[in-house]
Amino acid sequence: MNNYQKNILVTGGAGFIGSHLVRLLINKYPNYHIINLDKLTYAGNLDNIKDIESASNYTFIKGDICDKEAISEVFKTYKIDNVIHLAAESHVDRSITNPIEFVETNVVGTVILLNIAKESWKGKPENIFYHVSTDEVYGSLGETGFFVEDTSYDPRSPYSASKASSDHFVRAYHETYNLSIKISNCSNNYGSHQFPEKLIPLVINNIVNNKPLPIYGKGENIRDWLHVKDHVEAIDLIFHEGAIGETFNIGGHNERKNIDLVKLLIELVDKKLNRQSGNSLELITYVKDRAGHDMRYAINADKIQNILGWAPKYTIEQGLEETVNWFLENENWINNIVSGDYLNYYEKQYVKR
Ligand code: NAD
Ligand code: DAU
Repeated sequence: MNNYQKNILVTGGAGFIGSHLVRLLINKYPNYHIINLDKLTYAGNLDNIKDIESASNYTFIKGDICDKEAISEVFKTYKIDNVIHLAAESHVDRSITNPIEFVETNVVGTVILLNIAKESWKGKPENIFYHVSTDEVYGSLGETGFFVEDTSYDPRSPYSASKASSDHFVRAYHETYNLSIKISNCSNNYGSHQFPEKLIPLVINNIVNNKPLPIYGKGENIRDWLHVKDHVEAIDLIFHEGAIGETFNIGGHNERKNIDLVKLLIELVDKKLNRQSGNSLELITYVKDRAGHDMRYAINADKIQNILGWAPKYTIEQGLEETVNWFLENENWINNIVSGDYLNYYEKQYVKR
């Protein structure tokens, strides 16, 4: 095997954010071996990383982070000396219908990984376990205020409870066993290759196909949107330059009410499809609210900006236009997904709602 400077295990690298991260690492660091381990659940898609699958510094392994033996073997075979952990069940609505799966992967799977890293890396503080987490662990904001790194945890969905629990375990392994860890908590991502269960790709796809645009409740909930490429640049920076044991919040200062975001998407997609302006507004359909729907998320990203000099590069307008173009130009990508598991999910989630 080649003598790489680092052998990094990226988990969940066939998913949305993971695939962008793997691409960045492979291209930017030819001296690193990137080992991408992914279970290929409904959300994992090898199409997402087709363009880099033959890179010489890249290995893909189909595997489950809950499978202790398989993960131990991967650590030994590839001499894993760093982990960037993204594998997770990531969709809030699915966590409401099937919470146990979220505990298994997000909590138990994370602890299995932590434990194997602890056992394999004794006396090696230079080896880093980086956990990619979410701002949802902080709960829901009112009309004002921002999440900072020491905002108390207040998770309110099974998804956010499982991510909060995994964050706590990561910190516990640092305090108890001196494992070198880093954590980042990021706001809502968008961009190419995002699975169409999430608001932005779902809405783009439904506008294109003249299907109803399901808006939960009154559409007044607020999310802070960040382009996925800005997120993975932040992860790269924290992984290399963030201090051990530290947490960084990552966010875009792009707060939007869901209904306003959907109207912006309608404007963009209608224009691209040469439809009359506002044509698709009639597709907006208010549906039953998500149970326990968090009202507002907003990140204060001063720490990463001041200490590491990170700032998002995309404005929401640029980012959304690029994203809409990508989905319109990659119909095959979305058609492959829509013809699979997603069809059943969509029926259950919206048609029989
Ligand atoms: P995603 O659902 O698109 O991808 C998750 C990936 O994990 C998939 O490829 C899936 O196959 C894999 N996976 C699931 N269970 C696994 C298991 N048991 N073993 C191995 N692989 C498994 O998710 P995403 O949106 O790319 O999110 C990635 C990470 O970033 C998650 O940890 C999520 O909590 C976090 N995050 C996401 C956002 C966001 O807006 N999407 C924001 C902040 C943080
Ligand atoms: O904040 C970070 C989190 O963002 C990540 O940790 C999660 O993995 C990611 O899924 C995302 O969670 P949200 O629940 O905020 O994202 P989602 O795209 O599901 O929903 C965004 C908002 O849009 C939310 O207020 C719910 C609403 N919504 C969503 C869907 C799917 C609708 O109104 N209609 C819909 O059909």
